[in-house]
Amino acid sequence: MKPTITIFERIHPAGSEILSSFAKVNVAVGAKRKEQIELTKESSAIVIKSVVCVDDELVNGAKELQIIGRAGVGTENIKFNKAKFPNIKIISCPEQNIVSTAEFTILQILNLSRKLPAVYSAFQKGDYRRHRFEGMELSCQNIGIVGLGRVGIEVARRLKSFGCKLLAFDPASAYKDEFLSLGGAFTDSLNNLLSSSSIISLHCNFTKENRDMIGKKEFDVMKKDTVLINTARGSLVDNKALLDAINSGKIEAASVDVLDPEPSYDLTPKENDYKHILIGHPKIYATPHIGASTVDAQKKTAVFLATNIKEELSSNS
Ligand code: MLT
Repeated sequence: MKPTITIFERIHPAGSEILSSFAKVNVAVGAKRKEQIELTKESSAIVIKSVVCVDDELVNGAKELQIIGRAGVGTENIKFNKAKFPNIKIISCPEQNIVSTAEFTILQILNLSRKLPAVYSAFQKGDYRRHRFEGMELSCQNIGIVGLGRVGIEVARRLKSFGCKLLAFDPASAYKDEFLSLGGAFTDSLNNLLSSSSIISLHCNFTKENRDMIGKKEFDVMKKDTVLINTARGSLVDNKALLDAINSGKIEAASVDVLDPEPSYDLTPKENDYKHILIGHPKIYATPHIGASTVDAQKKTAVFLATNIKEELSSNS
């Protein structure tokens, strides 16, 4: 008998095709919690991205469930007690979308360093005073990377060509030698990086320990014209402290691709009543977690995930 697989968050069709070749696939994008629980009970695998929370409530009573497939790198929304459900395996996609996320980070570094979103908006309103929009030349900047993992090093590799001074803070980085060979330097503390950089980009995984790691104290040590780029996780930054830092002129602007909690990405504006204090501020450029949203990254991720689910389920049968 074919296994049942339920897709709770949109993935590239190339992945769904692979799943459909051997399984009965339910597509339940946007399903409410009750429906998610019912569908999980009849599934051998479920596919999620960054919104659906997989906790004990969801997996409890799901006797057939063998795999949680996460179409992306991070697994912090998978919170079930692993010791209680030892037969459920998590498959994530550690590398397939990191280049797109790094490219998006570079885009936001350039956008904010040249104040481009503000320029567009002013220009459309007939304000052509270009002296108001003098930005930063990257070759004259120190750019600080917090968290030098897979995405952080991809960002560093790309930034090298701009001739900027690269700084990183990550005592546990697996890319120390490569970063040094790119001409980068490690700071001995987070504060040293924050106080020495005019552009700061976050690339840490989220853990319980680093919630709000960029809070009031950290904003206080930053330089006045600093721009902050967060394409990692919303919970790394204290939202209120970020608002205060921008409103008081402590820092210049922020690009925030990730919000905590995340909104549903599958509802129309009419259906979606999501609100967040960072949305709508003129110097906070919020985007709906699109770092990895390229067709290329989504396709690679979905194919990798589907292929691995197929192999795992076949080896279990
Ligand atoms: C990831 O963890 O790979 C991404 O943040 C996934 C996503 O785009 O939702």
